[in-house]
Amino acid sequence: MNRAAAGQREAVRLLRSNLLVSLGDVQHPSVLITSAVAGEGKTATCGQLAWSLAYAGHRVVVIDLDLRHPAVHLALGGHNDFGATDVLLDKRPLAECVQYIEVDRSGGKHGLYLLATGSRVSNPTELLGSRRTGVLIEAMRQQADIVLIDTAPVLPVADTLVVGPAVSGAILVVEAHRTATDTVQQAKNALIRNQTRLFGIVLNKVQASKGGHAYGHGYAYGSETPADAALGDAVGGMLAEGDSPENARPENDGAANARGGPPTRQPKPR
Ligand SMILES: Nc1ncnc2c1ncn2[C@@H]1O[C@H](COP(=O)(O)OP(=O)(O)OP(=O)(O)O)[C@@H](O)[C@H]1O
Ligand SMILES: [Mg+2]
Repeated sequence: MNRAAAGQREAVRLLRSNLLVSLGDVQHPSVLITSAVAGEGKTATCGQLAWSLAYAGHRVVVIDLDLRHPAVHLALGGHNDFGATDVLLDKRPLAECVQYIEVDRSGGKHGLYLLATGSRVSNPTELLGSRRTGVLIEAMRQQADIVLIDTAPVLPVADTLVVGPAVSGAILVVEAHRTATDTVQQAKNALIRNQTRLFGIVLNKVQASKGGHAYGHGYAYGSETPADAALGDAVGGMLAEGDSPENARPENDGAANARGGPPTRQPKPR
């Protein structure tokens, strides 16, 4: 494995670990993965995190509620023939729409469950804000150790904010070296005003280096303010978070992506 891949793998493992610490004793958490604006890496983060959690033995359900840019099925190697909207509109039963994605490609026992977006709808915000969406998330939550929900960016559309009341909280993905600090702050404020708990900020696409070796892009995780996050230019500098490490669940050896991690097919442009 080359250094960049090893650095990426390590960053995802640390992200997983820090998220679990940050979730504390929230039972069966449901977590929105969002960002201030488009293209910051929500779907990539969601896919990698889901993969890593499943590989570590957690029962993971991923729901794609970015109805305007369905892409988690591409990141995880699933399909989008049907999914959440079909369930919400009573077109298909939930059990028919959930896909099992094998994570351990060596034929092991690890996998995760995916509910893709399903058929396109003309009124995404309205559908996502409906009571049925909350019921659907709750139903999935009961079946899982953790539910990860890919969503639209917070600032351009209300789709994510209307789902906020139905989940345990959110993590905000920030594209390092691109998204302005005040843009991130606006997104954070919108979530807080919406009473959506913020579990942390993921600084994505970090040009990190450690011991003089460039690791390329990566993830970092922390509950710093966006201003602090924007200042962090190395993955290692962002990883000292977590005030209750005893709540962290047991980890595996970090081999989440040892077999290459999730497929990385590119989503179609919005
Ligand atoms: N850590 C990373 N390192 C390198 N490239 C990345 C990383 N994270 C995301 N990307 C790339 O950035 C682009 C946008 O990522 P992604 O689709 O995950 O963003 P998104 O926030 O889900 O976008 P959208 O708002 O359009 O749904 C993709 O081409 C993806 O491969
Ligand atoms: Mg996306």
